[in-house]
Amino acid sequence: MSTREGRVAGKKVLVTGAARGMGRSHAVRLAEEGADLILVDICATPEGLEYPLSSEKDLHETARLVTELGRTAVARVVDVRDEAALKQAVAEGVSELGGLNAAVANAGVLTVGTWDNITTEQWRLVLDVNLIGAWHTCATALPYLLEQGGGSLVNISSAAGIKGNPLHIPYTASKYGIVGMSKALANELGAQSVRVNTVHPTGVATGMAPPSLATVFGEKRPDLVPLFMNALPEPMIEAVDVSNAVLYLVSDESRYVTGLEFKVDAGVTIR
Ligand SMILES: NC(=O)c1ccc[n+]([C@@H]2O[C@H](COP(=O)([O-])OP(=O)(O)OC[C@H]3O[C@@H](n4cnc5c(N)ncnc54)[C@H](O)[C@@H]3O)[C@@H](O)[C@H]2O)c1
Repeated sequence: MSTREGRVAGKKVLVTGAARGMGRSHAVRLAEEGADLILVDICATPEGLEYPLSSEKDLHETARLVTELGRTAVARVVDVRDEAALKQAVAEGVSELGGLNAAVANAGVLTVGTWDNITTEQWRLVLDVNLIGAWHTCATALPYLLEQGGGSLVNISSAAGIKGNPLHIPYTASKYGIVGMSKALANELGAQSVRVNTVHPTGVATGMAPPSLATVFGEKRPDLVPLFMNALPEPMIEAVDVSNAVLYLVSDESRYVTGLEFKVDAGVTIR
């Protein structure tokens, strides 16, 4: 395809959690519209999660899909909890691509349980990855964005980060935390033309599927199931629906959009 015609033609974008699921979809959608990518993912499963995360093979597949579209992908195995490793990987990516215009803090994990089953270890894991990892992503990207005279940070929250979804309280807290962090950054760096927005998807069928989710809802709190029902007549949306929001927020089409909580939620939060 002609790169000059893409909606993000020539932009260089960091995507975390890029090996599979929505991270892969964001990378591919951005590449379709002319972006080059720095792709990072842990490619391993931390202790304390009840579902597997990605593999290196997954990350390489995302990179392959990007290059198949004629764009450049720099892929690195990095845990977003490790700020030094992230900085090193992004420095390498930036030197290969020649700059950075945007970052998508997408890496995230989910633990499930009623309030009386949550452990301190779950709190630490979920906040470490989802909130501090998103902070590391922003903080790592920012010096490069400022070098270019500004840029766009897109931080992936959730409908949970608007609605207060139950039965995964650390996850919900992390997703509210992302909103607070993003709005504060949007205020602090608006004068330097850095835009910071959050995206709030409803359910998407990905690998983020802890087996206990159905049992906790079905057996322990079926009364809470309606809280997760979309207003529009689809139980789940597709990853590309969320990627289209990310694409808009990375592109200059949203040049005066900052501090936005962009819901792609089929109306679940109006319920
Ligand atoms: N799936 C949904 O229904 C849903 C809804 C709302 C928001 N979200 C959010 O969307 C984002 C993407 O989730 P998904 O549904 O694609 O899940 P997923 O599990 O398929 O993908 C998450 C990716 O992040 C990676 N990752 C996890 N921890 C990491 C770490 N410490 N460092 C680097 N990479 C790490 C995983 O390996 C995986 O490739 C997450 O932030 C999630 O909270 C998901």
